[in-house]
Amino acid sequence: MTPKTYNWAILGCGKIARKFSSDLKLLPNARLYAAASRSMDKAIAFAGEFGFEKAYGSYNEMVSDPQVDVVYVATPHSHHMEHTILCLDHGKAVLCEKAFALNADQVNRMIEAARRNGVFLMEAFWTRFQPAFLKLMEVLASGQLGRPKMLRSDFAFNGGNDLSSRLFNMALGGGSLLDIGIYPVFIALQAFGRPEEIKTFADLAPTGADRSITMLFRYSDGQMASLASSFAVCSDTQSEVWCEKGFIRIRRKDISSTHLTVWRDNGQEEDYDFINQEGSGYHLEAQHVMQCLDEGLTESRELPLSFSSLLIETLDRIRKDAGIVYPD
Ligand SMILES: NC(=O)c1ccc[n+]([C@@H]2O[C@H](COP(=O)([O-])OP(=O)(O)OC[C@H]3O[C@@H](n4cnc5c(N)ncnc54)[C@H](OP(=O)(O)O)[C@@H]3O)[C@@H](O)[C@H]2O)c1
Repeated sequence: MTPKTYNWAILGCGKIARKFSSDLKLLPNARLYAAASRSMDKAIAFAGEFGFEKAYGSYNEMVSDPQVDVVYVATPHSHHMEHTILCLDHGKAVLCEKAFALNADQVNRMIEAARRNGVFLMEAFWTRFQPAFLKLMEVLASGQLGRPKMLRSDFAFNGGNDLSSRLFNMALGGGSLLDIGIYPVFIALQAFGRPEEIKTFADLAPTGADRSITMLFRYSDGQMASLASSFAVCSDTQSEVWCEKGFIRIRRKDISSTHLTVWRDNGQEEDYDFINQEGSGYHLEAQHVMQCLDEGLTESRELPLSFSSLLIETLDRIRKDAGIVYPD
């Protein structure tokens, strides 16, 4: 049976929308249908560059187009709730960038809108669908390394000193935690689940955004996670899960390649290189969305809304402990 072709629309033509759109072209059942921006000129330029058939100079106009099946929301996290609910209320399926929203209350409202409208909603947590991450979870689940007990994970890059940029602007949900610290938190939740206790140390920029943050998770059965993110330094973006009989290390080398090592306490080591032959890997989440839509699902089994709720609830707990407060 020929798979259904879905008409995709982009809401917000910024940096990540460019990478996503470029990867979307790799999927034969994805039709690059519409690009929507707050500026008509920008929408026309974006649509022309990536081959979208239509350009809209407002998000409202785009969601009113009955031909749009699914929208990729790529605005700053401060606007995810508003833009996601706008799409859901117009009956459009939504893949919304991480962080899903600023806090659990906003995420609950998004989930409520998806359920009220009976429409598909998923957080665009692209690493969940990457082969390296799937291999890590497969090795952990196999039990070959015994129980996983400790975890260390980081994500850092030098984000510069422009305090008006999205990275530091609190009105746009700035701060390293929601932008990149969310990845180490994601790994800890996937591997160990909800932590019993959270302790943090944060270095805040003058805007109140966290420039750097270190987080410690404690679990009731003795598991622990040490996580960090920063816009002030460069790290090698690595995660390690230490188990009773060995460890797994996953290291993102660049946008298209990830290295994974499985080390056993008998000295045996296996190395895997996961290299994207085409694109950056964003098409895998889009492909998954279309598989879910083919099945008539309103949420993903692999990345359910209950996981997004746990993730944002954990980020809320971290922000509370670290004293990171958004304007609203
Ligand atoms: N998955 C990943 O690997 C990844 C990587 C980077 C970022 N992200 C996420 O993607 C989202 C966007 O990040 P980005 O780096 O693409 O940001 P960006 O380059 O600043 O783009 C955001 C876009 O949102 C639109 N927008 C709507 N209201 C806005 C407002 N009040 N201020 C600024 N922009 C507004 C703008 O598009 P128009 O002008 O066209 O309307 C803008 O170009 C964030 O939530 C971020 O966490 C994910």
